[in-house]
Amino acid sequence: MRSHAGFTMGKILTLSVIKADVGGFVGHSDVHPALLEKAKSCLSASSILTDFHVSHVGDDINLIMTHYGGRNNGEIHHLAWDTFIACTEVAKSLKLYGAGQDLLSDSFSGNMRGMGPGVAEMEFEERPSEPVIVFMADKTEPGAWNLPVYKMFADPFNTIGLVIDPKAHCGFNFEVRDLIENKKVTFAAPEELYDLLVFIGAPGRYCVKAVFHKQTGEIAAVSSTQRLNLMAGRYVGKDDPVLIVRCQSGLPAVGEVLEPFANPHLVSGWMRGSHTGPLMPVPVAQATPARFDGPPRVVALGFQMCNGKLVGPQDFFADPSFDNARRKALDVADYMRTLGPFEPHRLHLEEMEYTTLPDVMHRLKDRFVKLS
Ligand code: F6R
Ligand code: MG
Ligand code: MG
Repeated sequence: MRSHAGFTMGKILTLSVIKADVGGFVGHSDVHPALLEKAKSCLSASSILTDFHVSHVGDDINLIMTHYGGRNNGEIHHLAWDTFIACTEVAKSLKLYGAGQDLLSDSFSGNMRGMGPGVAEMEFEERPSEPVIVFMADKTEPGAWNLPVYKMFADPFNTIGLVIDPKAHCGFNFEVRDLIENKKVTFAAPEELYDLLVFIGAPGRYCVKAVFHKQTGEIAAVSSTQRLNLMAGRYVGKDDPVLIVRCQSGLPAVGEVLEPFANPHLVSGWMRGSHTGPLMPVPVAQATPARFDGPPRVVALGFQMCNGKLVGPQDFFADPSFDNARRKALDVADYMRTLGPFEPHRLHLEEMEYTTLPDVMHRLKDRFVKLS
């Protein structure tokens, strides 16, 4: 690894979560332990991090890192890139599936944006006590966070703090991204809930990027989103997403942040990125999508930040209070699978990651007869 002078410890801490799939074990189901070991050794060798935790969900490696270098820091992104390259070498040596698949370039170009890996970063001054939860999902897309984030920060049936906590009662601002036109817009909740929902109810295009406390302006949540690019007449670039949420003391409590996942909502992804299925909350040890390459998974790792150190993790979905959610997710999965290749289990034509439609259409074009 390269050597670094390190950043000066300041008041503003950065929490960076950078993830990539650089090879699956077996197929697209999991990360081989040798890759996780490699990632840990790369990050331990660096002097620019204050702390880190390496984890995974399905076939994605998640690098959870703290430092004082700010968001979009070239050195931090370069370190993550080098780490994924080193893991790719291990993946190649074991002939793991899709080795290096998320690294879209041969060389690092200063910033992770557009290079394949997913990034969620936030900067904040550590509060006297700073509980955060890092959510990591596999076999789905960034818009999968829209519904739970809406519930956490705008739904009083989920978050009673919006009603009875004087510090949360003012509400929150939602920054929403249009992933196709690459634009952003901010909505105030609760005043503009109906306008907000017009957009985030369409998670294939509009994603909640960040949430801010309305009075203090403090960052409360941030997700990984990436622009969708129009290629071959289809928008591509959807990715297994991550989400960081700060909790307590005027923000939703830990239990309010976890509560939306007690009802496994339907998300896009699953087999071949082309199906709708329930998002099943699981601990890291159960984050190995198997049935029909799924169903889609979400893991929640809680940390207490302490002078930049990540005290944890607490693997929240290991708790039996999410057993019923898993059962429900499996029942929904059973039902959805009965629909086989029919919508709405299979995604509609524009949203599928895989399609043979142009080829089949081309082959059969002469058999289509115009009706008068
Ligand atoms: C979905 C996913 C898998 C693969 C499927 C086919 O996000 O990762 O469902 O799409 O296993 O993979 P390939 O085309 O690599 O054989
Ligand atoms: Mg994969
Ligand atoms: Mg994945």
